[in-house]
Amino acid sequence: MSNTPTINPLREGIASRLAPDPCTLVIFGATGDLTHRKLIPALYNLAAEGALPPAITIIGFARRAKTSEVFRKELEVSIRKFSRTPVSDALWNNFASSIIYHQSAFDDTEGYNSLAREMDAADHKRGTSGNRLYYLAVAPDQFPLILSQLQTSGLSTAAAASWSRVIVEKPFGTDLASARALNTLLNKVFAEGDTYRIDHYLGKETAQNIMILRFANSLFESLWNSRYISHVQITAVEPICVEGRAGYYDKSGAMRDMVQNHLLQLLTLTAMEPPTSLSADAIRDEKVKVLRSLRPLRGKDVFRHVVRAQYKEGLINGQPVPAYREAEGVANNSSTETYVALQVNIDNWRWEGVPFFIRTAKRMPKGGSEIAITFKGVPRVLFNPSGQEIDENVLVIRIQPDEGVSLRMSAKSPGSSLHIEPVKMDFHYGTSFGKATPEAYERLLLDAMSGDATLFARRDEVEEAWAFVDGIEEAWRTRTDDLTFHAAGSWGPAEATELAARHGVIWRRM
Ligand code: BG6
Repeated sequence: MSNTPTINPLREGIASRLAPDPCTLVIFGATGDLTHRKLIPALYNLAAEGALPPAITIIGFARRAKTSEVFRKELEVSIRKFSRTPVSDALWNNFASSIIYHQSAFDDTEGYNSLAREMDAADHKRGTSGNRLYYLAVAPDQFPLILSQLQTSGLSTAAAASWSRVIVEKPFGTDLASARALNTLLNKVFAEGDTYRIDHYLGKETAQNIMILRFANSLFESLWNSRYISHVQITAVEPICVEGRAGYYDKSGAMRDMVQNHLLQLLTLTAMEPPTSLSADAIRDEKVKVLRSLRPLRGKDVFRHVVRAQYKEGLINGQPVPAYREAEGVANNSSTETYVALQVNIDNWRWEGVPFFIRTAKRMPKGGSEIAITFKGVPRVLFNPSGQEIDENVLVIRIQPDEGVSLRMSAKSPGSSLHIEPVKMDFHYGTSFGKATPEAYERLLLDAMSGDATLFARRDEVEEAWAFVDGIEEAWRTRTDDLTFHAAGSWGPAEATELAARHGVIWRRM
């Protein structure tokens, strides 16, 4: 055995991490839901682990008038509700002292000038070194305004030996044209290398583990192709619905809300070739090739390969749930899809002929996200005489909940007769590593402070994903009679069952 200490990639991250730089983080939309539910809890948990940079100032930029004191109090209420770990008063007080509230309208030039003065003062007082991280946690229609103000006030330009970066939340456009326009605008203000497009699925621990599983284990990678794999299912379903976001969701639907970003990102990680290195661009180069190899779905093919549905009233956990059309803020004749299932093909050497099934929905019996790789069955010669069907091997990567990986195998059940049963080899993060997995936003915020863009979507990735989704949306605009309905709390419409059955596939129960 060698004495060299080994880095456990699951504990340490895909590569040995860069240290986050001291910086000022400016959150636009600081009074919003994202800041309260995700960003501040993530920052607090990083602080509690000692993972934040040695010097940090967090400035909440928003329209409502309030003092820093009041802002901190409001954040404290949220953090006690949403923090992943119990909140310690001492730690919170220390962390809260780095938070400042900056009141300004997004179009007020003076508000940006005073922001600049505030940041300079923080540099001197706290040693934040002139590094700026701007987080656009606002509705997309505010992006152009904030970006142009950052540019004209000179705030997007980094001082010598410092950096200036921007994090953009989804939705990143509503189609290819709008995503391109937003990218063009962003690239005028920030270099592509300083632009961090959030897809929080990429920050999930198990999504990061897909690459480790594939490329750090010779066992799997040698079988990872059309010779051995019969099909792949990628699922992300939830029991909840739009939860106060109807204004956005009813215009978006499941395809734009989940497939264009999270699910296609999981698909690229599952299907990509090994990258030439672990650099952000080497990895993203391979991911974007998968998107380019997706067989486009257009016109009548869309109605053969894609099922869209909306939930009607039903029962979840025995509780009655009203129909989507009854949800607050949803049009009572809405034809927005809350369920989508599609079968896609990746036209490249590795995946020729392997169907990929993607499914996402609201108001399912339970929630969960996973990637299931089903391997081809064994030749039906040896065990056939006993008349037994042998289940295929299935490798399941559980993104959430109960993060882990399991492998279904066949084994002889004890006894004198030859009876073959499926058994499972199971790895759970919780028990194997003895600690809870961090929230996606913790990893992503730290990466942006460290200048590591690996887990963020690059311009071409976002645009390729939209190009694919646009084909489907375009066909959907030509008719609506394909929209089908299913009861809330059921696993979806019969049409989706048929879509899978055409390939001899049954959707997995989560
Ligand atoms: C968001 C979608 O991006 O992801 C939501 O807009 C969805 O509609 C959410 O509920 C799911 O994320 P998670 O991390 O709970 O699986």
